Amino acid sequence: METPVVWFVGAGPGDPELITLKGNQLLVGADVLIYAGSLVNPALVERSGAKVKLDSWGMSVEEMVPVMVDAAREGKQVVRLHSGDPALYGSIVEQIAELERQGVEVRIVPGVSSLFAASAALKTQYTLKGVSESLIITRPAGETLDEDDIARLSEAGTSMVIFLGTDKLSAIVDKLRCPRDTPAAVIYHASWPDQKIVRGCVGDIAQKAKDAGIHKTALIIIGGIVDPMTRYHRSVLYS
Ligand SMILES: C[S@@+](CC[C@H](N)C(=O)[O-])C[C@H]1O[C@@H](n2cnc3c(N)ncnc32)[C@H](O)[C@@H]1O
Repeated sequence: METPVVWFVGAGPGDPELITLKGNQLLVGADVLIYAGSLVNPALVERSGAKVKLDSWGMSVEEMVPVMVDAAREGKQVVRLHSGDPALYGSIVEQIAELERQGVEVRIVPGVSSLFAASAALKTQYTLKGVSESLIITRPAGETLDEDDIARLSEAGTSMVIFLGTDKLSAIVDKLRCPRDTPAAVIYHASWPDQKIVRGCVGDIAQKAKDAGIHKTALIIIGGIVDPMTRYHRSVLYS
C-alpha cells in the first residue's frame, strides 16, 4: 500500500494568479481541501474541484488532522492551503508532527509570501546596497505570544517587516529604537484589488495608517528601503 500523503500548499498573498503552477494543479485536482479562510482568496477555493472544502478558521489541530488522515488513507488528494508561504506564521509544524505521528507523509509546495507582495507594491528590494544587507521578519507580542523582540531588533538598523501587528501599530512604533524619521510603510491587502499603501516615517506612520482606515491584514515595513531611490548605491551585478 502506498504511503498516504497530505500536500501543504502556499496560496500566495491574495491575487489568485500568484499561486505556483504546482500548487494550482494540486488545488484543482484535490478531493479534500482545508483552507485558511480569513486570508485565502475565495476565488482559489472556488477553483478547487474538491468535494470537501473546510475553512480552518476556528478548527483545532485535533479537528483538522483526522479529516486529513482519513482522506489520505483512502488515497484521496488532500490539500491544506495556507496563505502566502506556509513557512511564515503558518503554524504548520504542529500539524505536520501529528500527521507524521499517524503515518501520513507531508509534502510542501511553497508560495509567494505577502512579504514579497508588499515589496512588489512598494517597488523596492529588502536588501539594497548602501541601505540594508539584511532583513528582519518579526511580529509583536499578543494573544499568542507573551513577549516580542521588536525594541532590540530595531536597533540593528536593517530592513524590518512586522507581521500580525496592524491592530497594535501605535504600540509597535513606540517600541522602535530607530530614529523617528526612519522611512516606514504599511501595506494593506498586498496584491488584492483593494490594496492600500501608506508611506511615512516611524514618527507618523501609525496615525497615517489609522487615517487610511487600516486596522487589519497589513504589513509594517521599516527602513531606508521604503524610500530607496535617493539612497541606493548601484550594485556591481549590472555595472
Ligand atoms: C498568519 S500570518 C500569515 C502570513 C503568510 N504565511 C504569508 O506568508 O504572507 C497573517 C499576517 O500576514 C500578513 N498578511 C497576510 N496576507 C497579507 C497581504 N496580502 N497583505 C499584507 N499583509 C498580509 C498580515 O500581517 C497578517 O496579519
